[in-house]
Amino acid sequence: MLIKLPRSSDCKASEITPEHLYLSRRSLLGAGLAGIALGGLPRLSLGAEMSRYANVEAGNAPGWFSDKLASARWQAVTVSGEAITPFKDATHYNNFYEFGPDKGDPAANAGSLKTEPWSLVVDGEVAKPGRYALEDFIKPYQLEERIYRLRCVEAWSMVIPWLGFPLAEVLKQVEPTSKARYIRFETLQDSQHMPGQRSGFALINWPYVEGLRLDEAMNPLAILAVGMYGRELANQNGAPLRLVVPWKYGFKSIKSIVRISLVAQQPHTTWQGLAPEEYGFYANVNPTVDHPRWTQARERRLPSGLFSPNVRDTLMFNGYADEVASLYSGLDLRKNY
Ligand code: MTE
Repeated sequence: MLIKLPRSSDCKASEITPEHLYLSRRSLLGAGLAGIALGGLPRLSLGAEMSRYANVEAGNAPGWFSDKLASARWQAVTVSGEAITPFKDATHYNNFYEFGPDKGDPAANAGSLKTEPWSLVVDGEVAKPGRYALEDFIKPYQLEERIYRLRCVEAWSMVIPWLGFPLAEVLKQVEPTSKARYIRFETLQDSQHMPGQRSGFALINWPYVEGLRLDEAMNPLAILAVGMYGRELANQNGAPLRLVVPWKYGFKSIKSIVRISLVAQQPHTTWQGLAPEEYGFYANVNPTVDHPRWTQARERRLPSGLFSPNVRDTLMFNGYADEVASLYSGLDLRKNY
């Protein structure tokens, strides 16, 4: 992004995952699930679900997460014919500038993030504002596994099995008022535990902020995630609570959220504030609108390396056009990038 330009050598050859891991993950995607499959499979035992994901490091799941996992709806949404990215890549090739600008910095530094206790504020144009302990905030929702493509604006991508719940369900609970037109999210600001926020070189005006139009937030694909690969979120992926909006560039999927506000005006978001001519508010994945400094027509699917770059065409709305294109009818996507 602004801080560091992508290079084809960003991912080292040593990071390429052995083929047998791919094959085991391919089988998990299941034949017969065309495109996006909604509906879910019969629930397997917890042990069986965890073992689907080979080489996933055991986390340190808080009690509330383990309780929720027992009733999770597995494979509620998936993609067919695309391998799930190995856990190692998803957790060691990250953007989380609060922990440093390099792709390996979040994995190296995010251990310092204290995710328990965690509290979350919901405020602004809502009938039911409040401050919640995370476990209370999560209580009403059933976890669903959502296997989504993640496409970064830097032109790399992954396929990640998230565990979360629809943002629309949260909105129903807090009851936006008639003035609410946008939703604004804010990441934790804690320079003691987030070294990137102490750095004199960071250009970001902390805290990291993102936003969606209310109708985008209500789309069934938009989720708040608390887990990935059958376990809780790794700190470097935005524990304990992050947004996932798979039809938008990854920078919209804000991590480690502490505040959700319903607002009347379009929020000022972090990347838009830093370089408005490069990063728009909408940030919909769009292969026909290039970034000023590189093409968005193609992407490197991780793991990728010098001898196997694994480049593929980028899909409109990251492959989710059937679900989201109607949100933007009549909008000029060249101007509203
Ligand atoms: N959220 C916060 N708070 N800080 C960040 O630096 N980076 C964004 C997004 N969310 C970022 C963030 C970007 S640029 C991307 S591509 C995704 O997180 C990366 O998510 P991942 O590291 O889980 O793949």
